[in-house]
Amino acid sequence: MAMLEVTNLTTYYKTRMNEKICSVDKVSFSLEDGKSLGIAGESGCGKSTLAMSVMGYYFPPLYYESGSIAIDGKDITTLDPDVIRQTVLGTDIAYIPQAAMNALNPTRKIMRFIEDVLKAHGFGLSKKEMRDLAEERFSILNLPAKVLDQYAVELSGGMKQRTVIAISTILSPKVLIADEPSSALDVSSQKIVIRLLHDLMEKGFVRSLLFITHELPLLFNVTDDIMVMYAGEIVERGAAKEMVFDPLMPYSKGLMNSIIVPEEGTRGHVLQAIPGAPPNLKIRPEGCRFSERCQYLKVCGAKDQRGMVEDRDAGPGRLYRCRLEEARLRELYRQQEEDAKKFPLVSHTFVDEEIAAAGTKAEAGL
Ligand SMILES: Nc1ncnc2c1ncn2[C@@H]1O[C@H](COP(=O)(O)OP(=O)(O)OP(=O)(O)O)[C@@H](O)[C@H]1O
Ligand SMILES: [Mg+2]
Repeated sequence: MAMLEVTNLTTYYKTRMNEKICSVDKVSFSLEDGKSLGIAGESGCGKSTLAMSVMGYYFPPLYYESGSIAIDGKDITTLDPDVIRQTVLGTDIAYIPQAAMNALNPTRKIMRFIEDVLKAHGFGLSKKEMRDLAEERFSILNLPAKVLDQYAVELSGGMKQRTVIAISTILSPKVLIADEPSSALDVSSQKIVIRLLHDLMEKGFVRSLLFITHELPLLFNVTDDIMVMYAGEIVERGAAKEMVFDPLMPYSKGLMNSIIVPEEGTRGHVLQAIPGAPPNLKIRPEGCRFSERCQYLKVCGAKDQRGMVEDRDAGPGRLYRCRLEEARLRELYRQQEEDAKKFPLVSHTFVDEEIAAAGTKAEAGL
């Protein structure tokens, strides 16, 4: 059963100039119980807005327009904000905002944040009971209990982020949304944070996870599925491995070509940037939002790009939004790979030997 079911959700920002920025446009997806889903996409494509929108808790400048959100079968779309705050946030769904670890009030000890969360939900626990609960949770998650008596400024970046995650999940939410929880950390701290998220799921403190990052390689091995977002829309979804090694929609393909996956078989991977920039969402783009940047526009066959683009089914759990059929896309990609072999772009080619040679030259002072 779906733990989170989002159907045709549309939300927008209203600017001071009264302009409408449609950052989440008719988005539909579901997240099954016990599963994790990654959301990837360039900066500004709407990942954080989608995260805030699925909590059903809106405040200016973000507004709800249409669509529905259900958590574990409960429709939260039309609930009053006060009801959402008291009965949904923290228990049904918890959100760790982007850069949350830098937003901890420096004048309060960690235990105070936990007390606030528990008190806000009216559990009526005594101070001792709250302390016991916090210590137990921290110990199960391999976090030192002494952190509870420390101030945020006394903690390292990695420990601060893990603490934020522990505080946000103290009420064992059904759905956890972690927005770029590891982007600001070094690689080993990133791994520890990801381990913690897995632990939370394994131990049943979090039932389903929505993990947001603009770094696609991070999602590989972290989430079961990956969704790619572009200009406020979901343009592709599939199992993590398929999405990383066999993307279909040209934007996902471009995103993959612009990164290195730490896996065998990526040696000699040609790194390419996606030319251009995402469309301006102040004027709601019609039709294919990627068309201006798409290198396959000429073969796509649509005379008028404004027509609606349907989602295409590409096997179980796999969807992509493009006018081109799967077989045609695969043929185009195959052709492109063959051309790349014939005419290698040396300046764009990431070859281990070249780096090794550069290193050797540098060491030799050349
Ligand atoms: N408070 C706001 N007021 C108006 N527009 C906003 C506001 N916050 C975000 N936007 C716009 O909404 C769009 C989506 O932004 P969002 O922050 O959701 O993107 P993102 O995918 O999370 O990016 P990043 O990877 O940089 O975190 C962008 O065009 C952005 O300019
Ligand atoms: Mg964001």
